[in-house]
Amino acid sequence: MSFEQQLIAWRRELHQFPELSLQEVATTARIRDWLQTAGLPILPFALKTGVVTEVGKGEKVIALRADIDALPIEEAANVAFRSQNAGVMHACGHDVHTSVMLGAALLLKAREAELPGRVRILFQPAEESFGGAKTLIRAGALEGVSAIFGMHNEPGLPVGAFATRGGAFYANVDRFVLRVHGKGAHAARPHEGKDAILLASQLVSILQSVASREVNTLDSVVLSVTRIQGGNTWNVLPENVELEGTLRTHSTDVQQQVKTRVSEIAAGFASAFNAQIDVIWHAGPTALVNTPEWAEFATTVADEAGYQTAKADLHMGGEDFAVYLQQTPGAFVSIGSASEYGLHHPAFNPDEKLIAPAAHYFAALAEKALHNI
Ligand code: NI
Repeated sequence: MSFEQQLIAWRRELHQFPELSLQEVATTARIRDWLQTAGLPILPFALKTGVVTEVGKGEKVIALRADIDALPIEEAANVAFRSQNAGVMHACGHDVHTSVMLGAALLLKAREAELPGRVRILFQPAEESFGGAKTLIRAGALEGVSAIFGMHNEPGLPVGAFATRGGAFYANVDRFVLRVHGKGAHAARPHEGKDAILLASQLVSILQSVASREVNTLDSVVLSVTRIQGGNTWNVLPENVELEGTLRTHSTDVQQQVKTRVSEIAAGFASAFNAQIDVIWHAGPTALVNTPEWAEFATTVADEAGYQTAKADLHMGGEDFAVYLQQTPGAFVSIGSASEYGLHHPAFNPDEKLIAPAAHYFAALAEKALHNI
């Protein structure tokens, strides 16, 4: 079996047996087994799921990271190696990322004697639920690391395409819930209550004005109300209505500005209508901010490897890799996977031709980075 066939076989095996965040037990066992068979050590970190290996010797350390978890989606892709775990699918391509970094580990192992330091390779659990990076950091996986690199496949780009950017790349992700407490009443006698539905529907409209009228139009911001719930029949005004949604930004200033305004507007509405509105924020991942020098370095190495490189657009999604970059310099990159259907789609089907070249790329990137620190 060729190197490429091996990586594709591994990817297909991972694809057939996907596991959700923090349940990646069989996935972890497979990765450990493949690494150990190739003569790579498993570092003794206390991890329930996830694996860390290392190649080389010396003080200098560069890290590579793959994510290993899947999504609660029933697969609809027409492939021979479709998911055997009902309702779970590698619909984000983390199986591809894992086989790329397994390939990089093998290539680096073959050059171990030439490496001017160590390359640590992190197979991270729980990217989708945003928490795996923190778990690995707590376990000590970033200790001594001078720079870290990772990838996401990009279905909208052809195989052979590469994109990244210095500075902010993926977004700050916030989730909010607004609980509107009015006063229930007979639908025919609204003056005896406080209409929570009327209040909530006006809130939805006015919240849109924050992003469109108060934030500088040159800053990126999205505020979406995605759930509105209240009432259960036609002739009763309900007591409570709940709104939920998400805020996406790239700058902490804009994030703070919008959060403050949402709270002020809710308080103002509550006072004007003599009702009560609770605002609850759930912080998600922070913005992913690439180190400009390492993003440029990663692009230069991609050019040398024959990729078509471009500056990536800002991404409004979240990515747990951001947590590493808060502590350690590095860069996260996009590599084209040419899937007709996008990430998290039940028919997502990345082109496996990206895998072997990406493995060569990350092995080269890690080795060159070791020479550069
Ligand atoms: Ni993903």
